[in-house]
Amino acid sequence: MTDTIEVNVLTEQQAKAELARLADALAKANLAYHTDDAPEISDADYDSLKRRNAEIEARFPDLKRDDSPSDQVGAPVASGFSKVTHAVSMLSLANAFEDDDVAEFDTRIRKYLGLNAGAQLSYTAEPKIDGLSLSLRYENGALVQAATRGDGTVGENVTANARTIDDVPQTLTGAPEVLEVRGEVYMSHPDFDALNARQEETGQKPFANPRNAAAGSLRQLDANITRARPLRFFAYAWGALSNPLADTQMGAIERLAELGFQTNPLTTLCAGPKEMVAHYRRIEQARATLGYDIDGVVYKVNDLALQGRLGFRSTTPRWAVAHKFPAELAWTRLDAIDIQVGRTGALSPVARLSPVTVGGVVVSNATLHNEDYIAGRDNKGGIIRDGKDIRVGDWVQVYRAGDVIPKVADVDLSKRPADALPFQFPSQCPECGSDAIREEGDAVRRCTGGLICPAQAVEKLKHFVSRGAFDIEGLGAKQVEMFYHDDQLPIRTPADIFSLKARDAGNLSKLANRDGWGETSAGNLFDAIDERRDVPLGRLIFALGIRHVGEVAANDLARHYLTWDAFAEAIDAAAPAAECHLQADAAEAAERKAAAEEGRRARIKPVRDNVWAEVDPHAQAAWADLTGIDGIGASVATALVTTFQQQAERRSIEALVSNLQIETTEAPAAADSPVAGKTVVFTGTLEKMTRAEAKARAEALGAKVSGSVSAKTDLLVAGPGAGSKAKKAADLGIETIDEDGWLDLIGAS
Ligand code: IVH
Repeated sequence: MTDTIEVNVLTEQQAKAELARLADALAKANLAYHTDDAPEISDADYDSLKRRNAEIEARFPDLKRDDSPSDQVGAPVASGFSKVTHAVSMLSLANAFEDDDVAEFDTRIRKYLGLNAGAQLSYTAEPKIDGLSLSLRYENGALVQAATRGDGTVGENVTANARTIDDVPQTLTGAPEVLEVRGEVYMSHPDFDALNARQEETGQKPFANPRNAAAGSLRQLDANITRARPLRFFAYAWGALSNPLADTQMGAIERLAELGFQTNPLTTLCAGPKEMVAHYRRIEQARATLGYDIDGVVYKVNDLALQGRLGFRSTTPRWAVAHKFPAELAWTRLDAIDIQVGRTGALSPVARLSPVTVGGVVVSNATLHNEDYIAGRDNKGGIIRDGKDIRVGDWVQVYRAGDVIPKVADVDLSKRPADALPFQFPSQCPECGSDAIREEGDAVRRCTGGLICPAQAVEKLKHFVSRGAFDIEGLGAKQVEMFYHDDQLPIRTPADIFSLKARDAGNLSKLANRDGWGETSAGNLFDAIDERRDVPLGRLIFALGIRHVGEVAANDLARHYLTWDAFAEAIDAAAPAAECHLQADAAEAAERKAAAEEGRRARIKPVRDNVWAEVDPHAQAAWADLTGIDGIGASVATALVTTFQQQAERRSIEALVSNLQIETTEAPAAADSPVAGKTVVFTGTLEKMTRAEAKARAEALGAKVSGSVSAKTDLLVAGPGAGSKAKKAADLGIETIDEDGWLDLIGAS
């Protein structure tokens, strides 16, 4: 993290660059957490990135980005479930970290309501459950729909799955005609341990923590799998209502309990910040014995009329705050640093630690991020940990934020052994010996071995069979490892999976005769593989495991190109331009350097134009089409082209594709709307809806939403602060309207 530069001494240029970096990091973290159920950073790190972003935005309000993380909740819904637009948005909570923040919360509320310090104002305080939120809609007492939060506006329809949860009543007696009950789905510690034991036994990947297990279980396309998973539900809030539940938060919770919902027994009424903090301490003390994960305490204004007056900011209510628990820390010895090679060749250093208990969990491995982190630098060359490097033999501080992978945060130099040497990060891949290189601007060193590197090949295969990808029952990470090293019946590329049955038929060492296998399990595996020969285009693209191409990008590509052939042709057509894009970046960097040395202004546009002038117009058009897809930037496009150009990769992809029937993605229904089939770009600040909501609504009406203005753009919706996109649209004579005009056009005003 680059929290080293004080916000008040940041230059405008530094602030802009950092806001871009933070938007990117938070978008990635959101996707990993909400859509992939596989968090990549701890909650504490996430909160600190968000705080830093808000601080910079507060100091440089003009630099606030169109896609500012401050305006976003959660992440878009994953594919596979139908979508539900929430009648009342599902929001997030603002955070408090220190006791003083709680007092400030109270002061802010009093100020907003015009109450003096002596006026009585009470709050509820209850545990913040670390699960995933769920909205249950009851009509005339019957459960009719259950939806996840998604991006806060549109969630996933998980009704069939929610019906399998014991704590979710199917019918209610005496409830309002319409009642949306909101709360948290979670898994208890004993149930989580038992589930992971079963996962291990059946060769499936264990879940990282109870939250992931709960999310992974609820978001199963097959409700029978959810039924077999022990999920629970605490109710703590509500959405649409035909009649109020009560006058107070506490009263409403009691009413929910009377209706048959589980409500948290540690919910208490507090007369002010002192009592709130005291209850926080009590809950913190009880945390280890609760039997389920919580990550803080939520305070809510008790009087519902006052909640109504306080209302909401863009993504959080003014009347509630989450007081988070601090991350957990411990000191231990760093015994070794191992290097793991990932799917995209990234060399990741892993700390092997003398086992230590951090917040009730024994930790013996932790991430060290990358070589700069070990050396005491961030990825922009800034100093972290006061520049202290990390060496084998050091005493290190291990940090765990309740759920995700532990991290090494600090080093105690006074305990450093005299013979400890700086860590030499390998420049060769430890798995295959190929050169491991670090590209300009990349924090990560990568093995260049591609598919010849066994570590990359195995990781790619594990990704290929994972849940959002081909999701082949009975072929998990463990089996992939086994088959990869099997000389009789190897699986070394995805295509090998689909020839497994045919190869087994002529094999002396048949799968059914092996230890741990039999006729039934081998037959089941072959059937499960056959079932996956029909594959939706988006899933296939995601399964290829191309760098930067996550589930969302893969589905965006599928929706844009619709068929595999169109997609593959487009990537090939864009190839000459990708090379040129890299050259233009290099030419721009050289020009900036030369200009700085010569003390003149850099002439970027002519330099870039010069390089592009060499590129065939067909390739330029293909590149512009690809990078014009909302959410597909130059780095995704370059990664796609690079993969398709590598011969071994290309052969592997083609062999795979020849085994599959790829389902063509349906073009969005040409809805009977004025924007159906039109390409729309949103720019500037939207004041009445989030960017995600605007995009979702436009797409629901059959429009294509693009991130950049081009000759193909039909309509620009420009809010305040619109800059270069509005100018470009004007130059191209593209119709431009404001947010109200857009709402009129789609009949939503
Ligand atoms: S109240 C309008 N109460 O925390 C806000 N949320 O970080 C309604 N959460 O999305 C939320 N325990 O998933 C509330 N006791 C609790 C909670 C709770 C967990 C989750 C919820 C929310 C997230 C925000």
